[in-house]
Amino acid sequence: MGSYHRRRALLAFVVLYWAIFPFSRSLVGGFNKVRGVNLGGWLVVERWIKPSLFDEIPNGDMLDGTQVQLKSVTRKKYVSASNGGGMNVTVDRDIPSWWETFKIWRVSENKFQFRCFGGQFLTTSNEGNMILAKANIPTISETYIVERNDTRVHIKLLSGNYLQATEDNQLRTDYYGEPGWDDNGATFELVIYANNLHGEFQLANGYGQDKAKDVLMNHRNTFITAEDFSFLSEYGINTVRIPVGWWIALDPDPPAPFIGGTLAALDNAFLWAQVYNVRCIIDLHAAPGSQNGMEHSASRDGSVGWPLSPDYISQSLDAIEFLSARYADNPVLLGIELLNEPSAAAVPLDILVSYYKSGYQIVRNYSSMVYVIVCQRIGNADPMELYETNIGVKNVVLDVHYYNLFDAYFGDLNPLQNFQYLYNNRRTQLQALNSINGPLIFIGEWVNEWNVKNASQIEYQTFGSIQLEVYDAASFGWSYWTLKNDEKHWDFEWNVKSRYLALSMCALTPI
Ligand SMILES: *[C@@H]1O[C@H](CO)[C@@H](O)[C@H](O)[C@H]1NC(C)=O
Ligand SMILES: *[C@@H]1O[C@H](CO)[C@@H](O)[C@H](O)[C@H]1NC(C)=O
Ligand SMILES: *[C@@H]1O[C@H](CO)[C@@H](O)[C@H](O)[C@H]1NC(C)=O
Ligand SMILES: *[C@@H]1O[C@H](CO)[C@@H](O)[C@H](O)[C@H]1NC(C)=O
Repeated sequence: MGSYHRRRALLAFVVLYWAIFPFSRSLVGGFNKVRGVNLGGWLVVERWIKPSLFDEIPNGDMLDGTQVQLKSVTRKKYVSASNGGGMNVTVDRDIPSWWETFKIWRVSENKFQFRCFGGQFLTTSNEGNMILAKANIPTISETYIVERNDTRVHIKLLSGNYLQATEDNQLRTDYYGEPGWDDNGATFELVIYANNLHGEFQLANGYGQDKAKDVLMNHRNTFITAEDFSFLSEYGINTVRIPVGWWIALDPDPPAPFIGGTLAALDNAFLWAQVYNVRCIIDLHAAPGSQNGMEHSASRDGSVGWPLSPDYISQSLDAIEFLSARYADNPVLLGIELLNEPSAAAVPLDILVSYYKSGYQIVRNYSSMVYVIVCQRIGNADPMELYETNIGVKNVVLDVHYYNLFDAYFGDLNPLQNFQYLYNNRRTQLQALNSINGPLIFIGEWVNEWNVKNASQIEYQTFGSIQLEVYDAASFGWSYWTLKNDEKHWDFEWNVKSRYLALSMCALTPI
């Protein structure tokens, strides 16, 4: 095609594009609607986004939150914390269940603490050399050295004694001497029951301070660079949503195991954003104690501590205050998201709303315009619940995450049924939320991936186009999860370059 025809074709495409994507003309407070991409896995790591980050952790299958069971090779029974903790410990269960499953807290490469189902830690009692499940806070007395040989382990006190299963099915600390790897009272089979938590906590604590610093500094300097902002702006992306952890507010010396340096990286993002005319949303993705128990909130062991402690909540507000103070006057800042994906099961609505109201006041204290973004609870919660509360009067945005994943409902849907779901359910919900007098709506996360196996490129393109068409209706806009990902179908860059995500805005690419 000659250059004249190419230009005509392009012009036609652009005209079509403006017709199909009217949102690009509508303004949100003087700004085009958000057409964004998340910078996931950068300042809050997730192993599945970049698995190689975790490759060199010694004893890498025993990270914080790994769930283990211990079976005595002589008794042929599992170690059990009766009632899930708070009582004595026995070695008397044939079949392991929750009382027999312990979450690891890692102290070092070979030192660990064992957390029972109910939250207490295995500890040593003064009487009778018994192991009990009674410590609420782990200290060195709850720390054990684990020696491994294939699937077998010895568990040793720091004082040198080994634990043993005795004939009366107790777990005691009085095995004297050095046990062999044959069948003896001090030898246990280690069963790794679940090993699915691989976030910032696991990485930092797994490597230990010095090595973690090298790994994270290198990752933060290379995973996202100015080039990415250039790429995004070329494709019409006008916003990045940047997940950060609460420890950013304590840079350069956050509490262990977190590693300083995320603040300098965020500063860089703001500089690159300014150069390439992109706006930034800062998203508090990981709050102290964890608001959802997942690796992306830097949970230590899968529990949700955030709502249980006023200290965690006030530390989160301190982080919001810190970020507001630092960036509120920066014209690149579009919004601050107060908390990502709090768990509906674990975070009561009243606690969350009160936090959101305080966070709103703090941001407003620094800026009258910056959008204050609140996220829906994940799990069994209706985003409508946040409309019934008055979080703030101006520039409040509700973030909902739309994945055709993570729910058994989507498991068996074929492509057509997925398309219908977008039109019938997502669009309907967006229309309902848009029409209420309240926060603007933001699809802060979505992805061009689904449960359909071996879908064709055309099917993916259609899925992507319908998502764009439907999510367009969101009054604040949308942002894709995520820019880069080892799983290529999640990777925005791959999707765009391989034409699996047919962004009409590609037409705007300069020729
Ligand atoms: C441990 O607790 C169980 C259940 O309460 C009890 O039956 C048993 O006697 C206790 N064992 C010891 C050694 O205290
Ligand atoms: C592991 O156990 C086997 C016997 O089961 C033994 O031969 C070997 O020396 C042990 N390895 C170490 C490192 O102790
Ligand atoms: C807002 O700022 C004022 C003056 O600095 C301060 O007294 C007030 O506590 C702040 N409010 C919030 C919610 O931070
Ligand atoms: C998908 O494709 C792979 C490789 O071509 C094949 O092994 C697999 O059975 C297919 N799965 C389905 C559900 O069709």
